[in-house]
Amino acid sequence: MAMVVLLLCSSCLVVEVAAAAAPDDSTAAAGNGGCPSGKGERPLWVFGDSYADTGNLGNLGRDLTHAWYYPYGLTFPRRPTGRFSDGRVLTDFLASAVGIPTPVAYKLRRRGGGGLLSRGMNFAVGGSGVLDTGYFQRNISSQIDLFQKTLRGCAPTAGVAAVVVSGNDYSAVVDKNNGTSEAAIAYIPTVMRGLREQLRRLRDDVGMGKVIVTNLHPMGCTPYFTRTLNYSGCDTVANAGADQHNAALRSVLHDLDPTNRTFLLLDLHTPFLNDNSERFPVRLRPCCETFKADGYCGQEDEGGKKLYTVCDDPERHFYWDDVHPTQAAWAAVADAFTPAIHDFLST
Ligand SMILES: *[C@@H]1O[C@H](CO)[C@@H](O)[C@H](O)[C@H]1NC(C)=O
Ligand SMILES: *[C@@H]1O[C@H](CO)[C@@H](O)[C@H](O)[C@H]1NC(C)=O
Ligand SMILES: *[C@@H]1O[C@H](CO)[C@@H](O)[C@H](O)[C@H]1NC(C)=O
Ligand SMILES: *[C@@H]1O[C@H](CO)[C@@H](O)[C@H](O)[C@H]1NC(C)=O
Repeated sequence: MAMVVLLLCSSCLVVEVAAAAAPDDSTAAAGNGGCPSGKGERPLWVFGDSYADTGNLGNLGRDLTHAWYYPYGLTFPRRPTGRFSDGRVLTDFLASAVGIPTPVAYKLRRRGGGGLLSRGMNFAVGGSGVLDTGYFQRNISSQIDLFQKTLRGCAPTAGVAAVVVSGNDYSAVVDKNNGTSEAAIAYIPTVMRGLREQLRRLRDDVGMGKVIVTNLHPMGCTPYFTRTLNYSGCDTVANAGADQHNAALRSVLHDLDPTNRTFLLLDLHTPFLNDNSERFPVRLRPCCETFKADGYCGQEDEGGKKLYTVCDDPERHFYWDDVHPTQAAWAAVADAFTPAIHDFLST
């Protein structure tokens, strides 16, 4: 059994071509949104994957970019916006915890007015990882490059960065190694070295004074894994892998910042495991469920017939699709982590 699953799709060769042709990032972003004003709001700069993406994975068709199609966005804002959920995702809740409106997604920056950068910007893109995941998505280091390019010429800001790494590095390596979880576990030190370097860079080279780093959720409890167990339990190997990743991450952060001044290890893992059965009667079965194991939420046949079902009560489900939480689940997770963010930012 594969240890993790890509937060996107697995046959993305077509996307590579499409992305290479897209003019999106060829122009320097200087002038798009100006500089952060430096007063009042505390900008939030987000780097990561589909747990944090709010529209950076452009619409490349239903097969490749599900989050731009119904039923994504069903709860909020009642249309798809490139968020991998029925509604708000981690970035929206992080922004609330920081006390600002959701920062604009880099890709959508031209739609916003002036002063946009005062809220920061979201560079996270579905499918990405610390290392290259073998698809076209910008890895974390390229996302930071893009941030630096976007803010070139601006005065340094007292902003907050968030780094969200949810397992794509592992799914990519599992893919390359015939689905063996050993390969994923053996890859943890490599991912950590890469992540450590990007965190160091954010503090020492970029000058970020506050950096929030999420740990890994219990991946074995995502419906991708629970489906093969008839939604009755979690995959223990995948969960053990997440635990190892998290232990390694704790030690990386301790080593970089023994006093916890600059880095906050934001615990997603614990609230994902909370036995909150009153709030979420449906824990392991996704709200949006495909007919076929290798299908996806939102899939249609050639005649436009739906190849999935959507539950009536997404707020009672923890998972929206095979890997992503519902808005209600993110809200519950945020209830758990918000005090830690307040404490961190007040010191
Ligand atoms: C991240 O992506 C850039 C651009 O594609 C590449 O040059 C770099 O090697 C990648 N970094 C890692 C750690 O894979
Ligand atoms: C994967 O499996 C194929 C066929 O079973 C084999 O030829 C290949 O060497 C395997 N690759 C790895 C990395 O184990
Ligand atoms: C899966 O669980 C459902 C009820 O939860 C049960 O009706 C069904 O028989 C189970 N199927 C298998 C293959 O165990
Ligand atoms: C820093 O945070 C970690 C948890 O992430 C905690 O275990 C440790 O005790 C903290 N260290 C200090 C000096 O507060």
